[in-house]
Amino acid sequence: MEELKIDLGVRSYSVLIGSGILAGAGKILQERGIKGRLLIVTNPTVARYYLKPLQKSLSGAGYDHGVIKIPDGESYKSLRQANRIYDALVAGEYDRKATIVALGGGVIGDLAGFAAATYMRGIGFIQVPTTLLSQVDSSIGGKTAVNHPRGKNMIGAFYQPQLVISDVATFRTLPEREFASGLAEVIKHGIILDENYFRLVSGERENLLSLDPDFLTWVVAGSCVIKARVVEEDEMETGRRAILNFGHTLGHALESVTRYEVYKHGEAIAVGMVAAARIAREHGLLQDKGLPEQLAAVFASFGLPVAVPGLSVQELMAALQVDKKVEYGKLRWVLPRRLGEVVIVDDIPAALVEQVIREMGGAK
Ligand code: NAD
Ligand code: GLY
Repeated sequence: MEELKIDLGVRSYSVLIGSGILAGAGKILQERGIKGRLLIVTNPTVARYYLKPLQKSLSGAGYDHGVIKIPDGESYKSLRQANRIYDALVAGEYDRKATIVALGGGVIGDLAGFAAATYMRGIGFIQVPTTLLSQVDSSIGGKTAVNHPRGKNMIGAFYQPQLVISDVATFRTLPEREFASGLAEVIKHGIILDENYFRLVSGERENLLSLDPDFLTWVVAGSCVIKARVVEEDEMETGRRAILNFGHTLGHALESVTRYEVYKHGEAIAVGMVAAARIAREHGLLQDKGLPEQLAAVFASFGLPVAVPGLSVQELMAALQVDKKVEYGKLRWVLPRRLGEVVIVDDIPAALVEQVIREMGGAK
């Protein structure tokens, strides 16, 4: 088992990564001095595989715990479901020493984290992420949120967990598309900060797809180290943390115009990363002129999309303007200079963005 420390002063915490460690969660909590009652937040899909082993382990270690199941899907990352969690906490007389345990992917983690941040102005929070995306991205760094009907993650809080338990054996039950979606974020971490990590991950297709536990532990740990470096520098995203949004500018627009029904998050981000590399090239920022094609080939080899066939350029351009990345009316882009280095710019002409979207298959 690997242990990483996210160093954020009084809000520091450990991320434990390994294969089969979920079944030892009770002992892990005990060893780390977690006290009080627990409320597990999960969904029926994840519960089917992992709720019993988790409960058995928690009961074995003497933890009194309840369970609330949220229906599966992004549309349930809502204030309404947060309210259901508050109701369960109130009905169960959970006090300020209680802890919410999020068992699931990023949807459950973001929603449960938001409830933990706000119930009684903040109670304990532990993440047990079960998707690749949530292990390498959403479970660390403290962004919690629910969606508003007009926009994703519009209502939220920065709230760090006290502990993250990432069991890579959970990927065995994960649908292939979800695994590939997580890989997009893994590869993103290499592109923004670590060329070597990018090359090692993208060159090890077999080890990845065969779910080799040691390799996966190394991959998840490597991504967490990269994300931790950024979050430790800029926890509240006042500046540098925005580099983690590489690929998200067009990616979010893509998710929004297709009403979150066509693309998985990582799939949309893969398209967004290729677009950002093309924009960087056209804008004269890119040192390695072949990067857009190189990224597209890597993403395609994992079954990720790299174009926007038939989507309306106008709709995408309009969606770009309502993104959280618009500041003082200017849209910020995270663009690569080369593998391992990105910059944040806000002077990309709309005409250039339109041209790239068209070249990637956008329609009138
Ligand atoms: P998800 O939580 O919807 O999980 C994907 C699907 O896999 C769901 O159907 C889920 O039930 C199922 N699943 C989860 N674990 C499983 C397992 N081990 N076996 C079988 N099925 C399993 O999606 P996600 O990709 O994990 O997360 C996406 C969410 O994360 C989005 O809401 C996004 O906004 C958010 N996010 C947050 C951050 C952050 O920093 N907080 C970062 C990136 C993404
Ligand atoms: N997923 C982007 C961030 O955590 O900042």
